[in-house]
Amino acid sequence: MSVGIDKIGFFTPNKYVDMVDLAHARNEDPNKFLIGIGQTAMSIADKTQDAVSMGINATLRYMDKIDKDKVGLLIFGTESSVDQSKSASLFVKNALNLPASMRAFEVKEACFGLTAGLMMARDFVRVHPDQTAIVIGSDIARYGIKTPGEVTQGAGSISLLVKDNPSILELNDGHSDYSEDINDFWRPNNSKLAKVDGKYSTQVYLDFFSKTFEAYKKQKNLANKDFTAITYHMPFTKMALKANRIAIEGQDEATSQRLTDKFEAAKKWSSLVGNIYTGSLYLSLLSLLEHGNLKAGDLVGLFSYGSGAMGEFYSGNVVLGYEDQLDKSGDEELINSRRKLSIAEYEQIFTDSLADPQDGVALLSDEKPGTWYFAGTKDDIRQYKKI
Ligand code: HMG
Repeated sequence: MSVGIDKIGFFTPNKYVDMVDLAHARNEDPNKFLIGIGQTAMSIADKTQDAVSMGINATLRYMDKIDKDKVGLLIFGTESSVDQSKSASLFVKNALNLPASMRAFEVKEACFGLTAGLMMARDFVRVHPDQTAIVIGSDIARYGIKTPGEVTQGAGSISLLVKDNPSILELNDGHSDYSEDINDFWRPNNSKLAKVDGKYSTQVYLDFFSKTFEAYKKQKNLANKDFTAITYHMPFTKMALKANRIAIEGQDEATSQRLTDKFEAAKKWSSLVGNIYTGSLYLSLLSLLEHGNLKAGDLVGLFSYGSGAMGEFYSGNVVLGYEDQLDKSGDEELINSRRKLSIAEYEQIFTDSLADPQDGVALLSDEKPGTWYFAGTKDDIRQYKKI
């Protein structure tokens, strides 16, 4: 039975910081950020966009194309959770008027959360082929002003519809996993900013990639040349480039060239949006699908990584007509219509977004009409509204 990704919805907030501006403000050579880190811009969420509102907005991108009554599962993967108890899925369910008969909950393992949800959704649809599942990854990456991680921030959400006979990517059986209890990146409950051992985190990421990639190839009897493209969790594009270098090492010229070309297509959106944690791998997949000139049947490898740490490699095959399911011009507009912030504006927005909103004070959003936003709390209950 073929199960996989049938729809992909993407959302990112309407403001960004240009990396050349940031480099000048931080007395760094712009090429360190543009080439050394591989980022051109990063999206900035003001206090009216949070994991929930971005998740609603990403799912809205395909809502009018699906049968709502068939949705039997809604999983929300995030490490930017807005409540210690109630799951983000329930806010989304309410905003989008999804069936009450649905199973809804939230999952967490750093950036691995969306992949964890996707795998559960795949198994759910196998058991309930007449139902579909929505899996959302939504996050704001915040390291702090003037920290080494600042250049690797970002904000956004990816929402996937998983069903049988999918129209975009069929998920193959099998997966290889590797986990270890380590402290490369974490965010204690009392902090809105991530803590990170930056250099160590990059080593662990590559180590987990090598381990899971090798194990997967062995499990499925595949070689590097069998993959049309490999997509990676992309905390910043240079990180994934280093993994792709491992994948092309010692390969024939055609394989190296193909994996390099597809990597260029896969990194485009992430280089402009930044790290969106759980959604990052799937933003890269979306970028590949929209720029990579793929054909039906092409084999795409996917490497998911969540700090703490958990790695998984799996694969999917591209479905005939997948292009018709995408909204490339909508994604371009979302990214290109963002307003560029001065560094002073960014620093103010960043600082404001760290403070909890004052209860009873309504927030107003400057996103475009139709967009959902966080409107403040009433009696400590979060309010979400549509512009
Ligand atoms: P840093 O110390 O500022 O940077 O921090 P650097 O000195 O290592 O320089 C970066 C690169 O720029 C180097 O290249 C330099 O040579 C180069 P590399 O050696 O890596 O190839 N460079 C230049 N290139 C061109 N022209 C120049 C120039 N100058 C220098 N003039 C670091 C970098 C990534 C450590 C920091 O930004 C950080 O801590 N980021 C956050 C952590 C992170 O993203 N880790 C990724 C792996 S962990 C992960 O993916 C999980 C995560 O998404 C969280 C989750 O799971 O939830 C983070």
